[in-house]
Amino acid sequence: MLPEALVDTLRSARHVCVLTGAGVSAESGVPTFREAQEGLWANYDPMQLATPEGFASDPKLVWEWYRWRREQVVNVEPNPAHIGLAQLQDLVPTLTLVTQNVDNLHQRAGSRDVIEFHGNILVDRCFVEGCVIETPLRGDIPLCPGCGAPVRPGVVWFGEAIPEEALNLSFAAASDCDVFLSIGTSSLVYPAAGLVDIARQNKAVTVEVNPDPTRTGFDFVLENKAGTAIPELVNSLSP
Ligand code: OAD
Repeated sequence: MLPEALVDTLRSARHVCVLTGAGVSAESGVPTFREAQEGLWANYDPMQLATPEGFASDPKLVWEWYRWRREQVVNVEPNPAHIGLAQLQDLVPTLTLVTQNVDNLHQRAGSRDVIEFHGNILVDRCFVEGCVIETPLRGDIPLCPGCGAPVRPGVVWFGEAIPEEALNLSFAAASDCDVFLSIGTSSLVYPAAGLVDIARQNKAVTVEVNPDPTRTGFDFVLENKAGTAIPELVNSLSP
């Protein structure tokens, strides 16, 4: 059962800002990062696989890992949480969706204007120039046709800056929203994890959806899987 006060808050919301993390895609079969047993970072070394230094020292290894993850994400489907968030966009006056996920599942579910805070695993870029380059799923490590540098997955790695436009739009939405939903994220990786603090400073009502809640201070905590909680939210707002 959703708290009545939360439903009332959402009904009267002017601008809802949503931040999603790996937990939103868990029910589609995409592994999360930090869960003890099955999280990716429990089994793989992020310094080797998700840093510019790791890529420079062994690009083949990094590519193998990203091609494996890319195959995972193209072979799964959006789940009820992705679909519910796309529907929510039509039920409130303004909804800004910021995702830390690189799997394209929000877009495939129909969400519009998704802000990709950590890039997109399906888009490749030149390691030196950053320009977008189309590459095949298999074969040798692709090279940039312009400068000859290796091509890299278009995701944000540890130690790298968030794409400027994504950062600016997300900060603006967190500052402007009157409701902030944090869904399926461990809230450990900054600057994404700081968006809720910006929202709170600007008096937004804050809501966490996570079966294993992470932080104190949210006004509402829905201790449930996103694939259950989000459709419930949507149903409660549907005319
Ligand atoms: P994490 O793996 O750190 O956290 C996933 C969260 O999802 C945990 O708090 C889980 O309890 C929760 N969760 C699991 N199943 C869920 C479900 N069905 N419904 C709702 N929540 C569920 O993933 P992120 O917070 O997304 O960055 O990690 C942030 C960033 O760290 C990622 O974008 C990635 C990673 O390193 C980069 O690769 C740059």
